[in-house]
Amino acid sequence: MDIKKLLNTLTIEEKIGQMLQIAPFFFIKNLEIEVAGNVNDLALNEAKIFRAGSVLGIRNASEMIEVQKNYLKKSRHQIPLMFMADVIHGYETIFPVPLALSTSWNPKLAYDMARVSAIEASTAGLHVTFSPMADLSRDPRWGRVVEGFGEDPYLNQIFTKSIVEGYQQDDISKDGNIAACVKHFAAYGASESGRDYNTVDMSRLSMHNDYFTGYKAAVDAGAHLIMTSFNVLDGIPATVNKYLLKDLLRKSWGFKGVTISDYDSLHQIIEHGCAEDDKEAAIRGIEAGLDIEMASSCYTNYLKKLVENQTVDIKLIDQAVYRILKLKKQIGLFDNPYKGASIEQEEKLVRSANHLQRAKEAALESAVLLKNDGILPLNKKLKYVMIGPYAESTSTNGPWSWHGRNNLNHQLSELLVEQGISLILTKEVSHPSDLSDSDMELVRESDVIILALGEHEKESGEAHSRSDIRLPRKQESFVTFSEFMNKKSMVLLYHGRPLDLTNIMQTNAILDVYFLGSMANDAIADLMTGVNNPSGKLTMSYPRNVGQIPIYYNHLNTGRPKTDGGHNEFVSYYLDVENSPLFPFGYGLSYSNFNYTDMSVSKKSITKDEKLKISINVENTTNIPGYETVQLYIRDYSATISRPLKQLKGFKKIWFDQHEKKTVEFELSNHDLSFMNGEGQTVLETGRFAVMIGSNSETLTKMDFHLVKEVVK
Ligand code: BGC
Repeated sequence: MDIKKLLNTLTIEEKIGQMLQIAPFFFIKNLEIEVAGNVNDLALNEAKIFRAGSVLGIRNASEMIEVQKNYLKKSRHQIPLMFMADVIHGYETIFPVPLALSTSWNPKLAYDMARVSAIEASTAGLHVTFSPMADLSRDPRWGRVVEGFGEDPYLNQIFTKSIVEGYQQDDISKDGNIAACVKHFAAYGASESGRDYNTVDMSRLSMHNDYFTGYKAAVDAGAHLIMTSFNVLDGIPATVNKYLLKDLLRKSWGFKGVTISDYDSLHQIIEHGCAEDDKEAAIRGIEAGLDIEMASSCYTNYLKKLVENQTVDIKLIDQAVYRILKLKKQIGLFDNPYKGASIEQEEKLVRSANHLQRAKEAALESAVLLKNDGILPLNKKLKYVMIGPYAESTSTNGPWSWHGRNNLNHQLSELLVEQGISLILTKEVSHPSDLSDSDMELVRESDVIILALGEHEKESGEAHSRSDIRLPRKQESFVTFSEFMNKKSMVLLYHGRPLDLTNIMQTNAILDVYFLGSMANDAIADLMTGVNNPSGKLTMSYPRNVGQIPIYYNHLNTGRPKTDGGHNEFVSYYLDVENSPLFPFGYGLSYSNFNYTDMSVSKKSITKDEKLKISINVENTTNIPGYETVQLYIRDYSATISRPLKQLKGFKKIWFDQHEKKTVEFELSNHDLSFMNGEGQTVLETGRFAVMIGSNSETLTKMDFHLVKEVVK
């Protein structure tokens, strides 16, 4: 298919139609009766609907086939629709939510998640997924932290890249591959006060060094689409922000793919106060380089007139439509408009045993053991009760799992009993006072109380910001209840964002299980009984209270840092809480214990063309085998701009047999020691650096070295 030729055969209305994305029901229902509301909102008539270029959300192969058939029947040009949807951490086989997945520090699992998602989603005829979400965030009040990979730019890049590669592999036309649409460009994760859709205002330095790195990694990995964000940046809505879409994305990063607005975000620039009406919004969108408009109709209803009265240059439309048609060609839609959709394959592949096994492997590595005073693994000689609001819950899929079915997930209590755990009571209660007299008898008889606490699945995710990130007071009372009953307790924590756990720290153990997907409880049971050893490490700092937010490990030092010991009045600190988080970035326990000794660096000084080799011995001092994630951080002590106290620059997740000792080696190059200036250019400055290695961002061994112009002989 010659795209340029095809473009020339299209009428202006048909070109503009390619730039519209709407929901599937527009194409298959009786428009008058069933979707009158939506049709009226968007002011679309049948002709406009049947010129649309792509569809948002599709339930299954038969729906896709029906929509495509109806569409092609009515369309003159016979350009197939492209189908897109949010497949975020699994299609029907649900993997851990992205934040949990990142705690595995194992990008291979993220790749697996994307592969399984792509294979399943493409059987429904989906061609594009709105994933990965590369929005860095340091504010757990923002509900969408659950969709991202935490607070660190380096880790964000690694996970984003693996996910893009997993969806697309080397060619999106091949069966079982789909195109990745990285989102939300840009800096959406920095919404002020953690309130969704809120303003973003930040320095160019933070943008380039921290917030943009994830999107850039996705673009470098070949992501075919990028979605704009709801927020403003420099006062301009991202959806019509020329700096973002033209200067940065296309000119500087060389992005050749398709840009798409977020849901209705082009129209919403009116509410932002940046357009008088849909007509002005259309002008700003097309001039900024926005190709597809999702779920609003500024382009469809106004672009033609704007071209006719010479306000908009038709060339801009041609460029956008060319990119859209090129993507359709790359997907293979001109060869097969029903690409991927197959009811037989759907039955065979979706939620297959193999896919569920992969989801379980990911879940096993995505739980973080936050505390363990000898409670875990569970002891088959002891008696347990399990109570709390999630004691009988199978709602472990988490936000953005619209195809997942929680009712197919397994009960934790049954899995524990199958493994020989004496669980004498499992009761889903929202407060200890809901326990009956006979329940209380069993509680008295038990040795340990397992408390299944946390957030509801719908308490994180889009539009689910919270100003108080403690557990509900009713839930905290389960811990005091256990103390009152003179029992040991452990907390199983289901949730989507870092929580303030200060008030439950008296419990004897905390296993942080987020929402681990279809196989969550199977993995949790294996971790609790010691069949598997927890290995997750936090990718967001957990604050001591909400007032510490934003809190992140890679902060600047300030001119008056708080140091340990001594009288420190006029320094950067709080009167009522420590500066440090309750649990730092990179933190997570294991049933094994790891000892770090004998760190060494290959040289005291290196030039920009040399590499620094760093090694350290790590020993599993227990007879329990397990994974340890060895983390490497640097600090640039003095530069033209202030650099963070610590920056993650490498990690290795390594298996240790019982009492095994290994030498772990890293290399640092000039790339790791450089930073970005406000114009987004890479800068390398000589001077003194520290390299630190350890098991989390606080427990580290440090050595200094210099980056020099030339080595003095
Ligand atoms: C969300 C996006 C999502 C889109 C389409 C929006 O509300 O912000 O993340 O991809 O809807 O479902």
